[in-house]
Amino acid sequence: MESLTKQLEKYAITGHENLLGKRVLLRVDVNVPLGENGAVDPGEDWRITQAYKTIDFLTEKGARVIIMSHIGREKHESLRPIFEYMREHRTMGFLPRYDETLITTMVEGMQNGSIIMLENVRQFDNEEANDSSYLNILIPLCDLYVNDAFAVSHRAHASVHDITNYLPSYFGLQFIEEVSQLEKTLNAMEQGNSVLVLGGAKFGTKLDLLKRLLPRVDYALIGGALANVFLRERGFEIGKSFVDDTDISDIKDNTKIILPIDVVDQEGDIVAVDEIGKNDIMLDIGPETEKLFETIIDQSKTVLWNGPMGKYEDEYTAGSIAVADSIARSGAFSVTGGGDTATVILEAGLQDNFDFVSTGGGAMLEFLVKGTLPGIEAILNKK
Ligand code: 3PG
Repeated sequence: MESLTKQLEKYAITGHENLLGKRVLLRVDVNVPLGENGAVDPGEDWRITQAYKTIDFLTEKGARVIIMSHIGREKHESLRPIFEYMREHRTMGFLPRYDETLITTMVEGMQNGSIIMLENVRQFDNEEANDSSYLNILIPLCDLYVNDAFAVSHRAHASVHDITNYLPSYFGLQFIEEVSQLEKTLNAMEQGNSVLVLGGAKFGTKLDLLKRLLPRVDYALIGGALANVFLRERGFEIGKSFVDDTDISDIKDNTKIILPIDVVDQEGDIVAVDEIGKNDIMLDIGPETEKLFETIIDQSKTVLWNGPMGKYEDEYTAGSIAVADSIARSGAFSVTGGGDTATVILEAGLQDNFDFVSTGGGAMLEFLVKGTLPGIEAILNKK
């Protein structure tokens, strides 16, 4: 059977023969956290830098690029800070509202190779209702649509789904790279010597991922607060540590699941997991666990990692950094991603330790569980 990557490549924008002067409606995901000053923190610009690949490809071909994205989940949130950041790196204009005269004037006046960014698509109810009618002024002005927003393509929203019914539709460079690397990871995991590293605070879709991958991997190394759920279920005292109320009874004794043997508590002390007191809070994996995980990672050929090993937002990042270093030393094919994991890795400047860092959070998890996403199906199954 043809791989999904090969199927996507048939719709790759890079295969389009004549982009000169074409107006391209480009969906990217530049939804990045803003700093306290309301501006983009350069350490958090990963999704933005990845989006330049398709933007640059299109402008170099002489296309006129109309960028759309969402930011946050509230209607009042604006893409202007993202635009301000991006325009330090690329020449571009901003369309602050969906006004017919404004859109027509600006889009019709675009030069070859120019870029305009639209305001947050989530300012419209219709976006999340998968109804692209709010783009009715813009659609007739555009020649084609490109989805390069892998990170939001697990949502059947208008700008990644319904829009494909109204314009010839393609995938961008980052999108195809995401699918290719994640598909490669899933295939490599079938070959043996593979490890899943899972952390973070809450299970959510990670439980589905764990259950899907347990038959394929040799080990699943569990850290972060996810480990607390297993430790409690296996009869350990977990004190006042955060614990997600997820039912893991069907996998709790799976021998592939490796849990921390020591942790860092709220005083910064290293405590063995069988010595946790009633008032202790586990906040990171300890040095013996780092060594245990390193030994396992060292023997692996493929490592997939999602979720930090400690409460990274309170600076408990040592365990995650140790795991990232072990992965780099192992020489295994390594892939990571997910909002929190990427944050830890990028802040510590460890992205080069990995073969691939996904821009996806929920989208990466859903892709790994289901093998596809609504935004992929919209283009592949377009009538
Ligand atoms: C993300 O941050 O994972 C994507 O941008 C999707 O955002 P959402 O979870 O708000 O849909």
